Amino acid sequence: MSNAIPYPLAPTPFPKDVMQIISDLSEMHALACRLRREGISIGLVPTMGAFHEGHLSLMRRARAENDVCLTSLFVNPTQFVRGEDLSRYPRDPEADARMAEGAGCSILFVPETEAVYPEGFATYVEPTRLTDHLCGLSRPGHFRGVATVVLMLFELTRPVRAYFGRKDYQQIKVIERMVKDFHLPVEIVPMPLVRESGGLAMSSRNRYLSTEERRSATVLFRALQAARSRFEAGERNPATIRDLMRDTLLSEPQTVIDYVSVSHPETLEELDRIEERALAALAVRIGPARLIDNTVLGEPMADVFAEGAV
Ligand code: PAF
Repeated sequence: MSNAIPYPLAPTPFPKDVMQIISDLSEMHALACRLRREGISIGLVPTMGAFHEGHLSLMRRARAENDVCLTSLFVNPTQFVRGEDLSRYPRDPEADARMAEGAGCSILFVPETEAVYPEGFATYVEPTRLTDHLCGLSRPGHFRGVATVVLMLFELTRPVRAYFGRKDYQQIKVIERMVKDFHLPVEIVPMPLVRESGGLAMSSRNRYLSTEERRSATVLFRALQAARSRFEAGERNPATIRDLMRDTLLSEPQTVIDYVSVSHPETLEELDRIEERALAALAVRIGPARLIDNTVLGEPMADVFAEGAV
């Protein structure tokens, strides 16, 4: 029998069908680098947990398009603005782990806050321009926290692709810009918005709503539908479409409007006149929840309707 050591060493097979949970940053980084070296592609799904069908659709797609689906679960404190819901943000780690594994996720990365932001942390990514609009105005500092943690996640997990839901339209634009500006070797994959059967966009924050509030919250979808119908009937004046959405929202007495916007789908600047496409976007408070929703006028609606509510 020969004592020769085979060269190159055969890579250790990576178990894709049993999900491993990693919380240590160095362990995550070492594994991600090893998989990259061995040509095993990672599809990253960055999340803050409290999974619903929207998250699961991203995980399934990540698994289908890559060798490995890696989901990160981290409730990122730096993206919560003062007075927001950080301390009561829904957390259900056991259910999340079961759901992620069921959706084909091979690695669940669950870092500790103290490890991500150690004592003395002082470096942030500061997105500009795109954040002068929409949620950037009502949640100052929010996208700085998002961009900072997403850049860190890209560095720690080395994904080939990263998946984000279109409910957070502005977040996708900010991250796409960061990827361009920093020449990051990752493809951003925007994924269709997933709605409950009544039209409410799925969100972890829907868990804050009572049955009655959940029913009222379908008004966001109704307002966007009204905007789409008016646009399809030929309306090109954004002011008229904003008024229509505002009136529809206010037909539900519980609604407190944060913003109603018709903007350029790339720059997010408010429009005076719609040429071909426009982003219609809303943010409202209903009871304890701040809810956002959007649609792109001039594009076919690609939203997915899932049964039931989580
Ligand atoms: O969309 C989210 O859940 C978060 O903003 C993200 C991208 C995971 C960053 O914390």
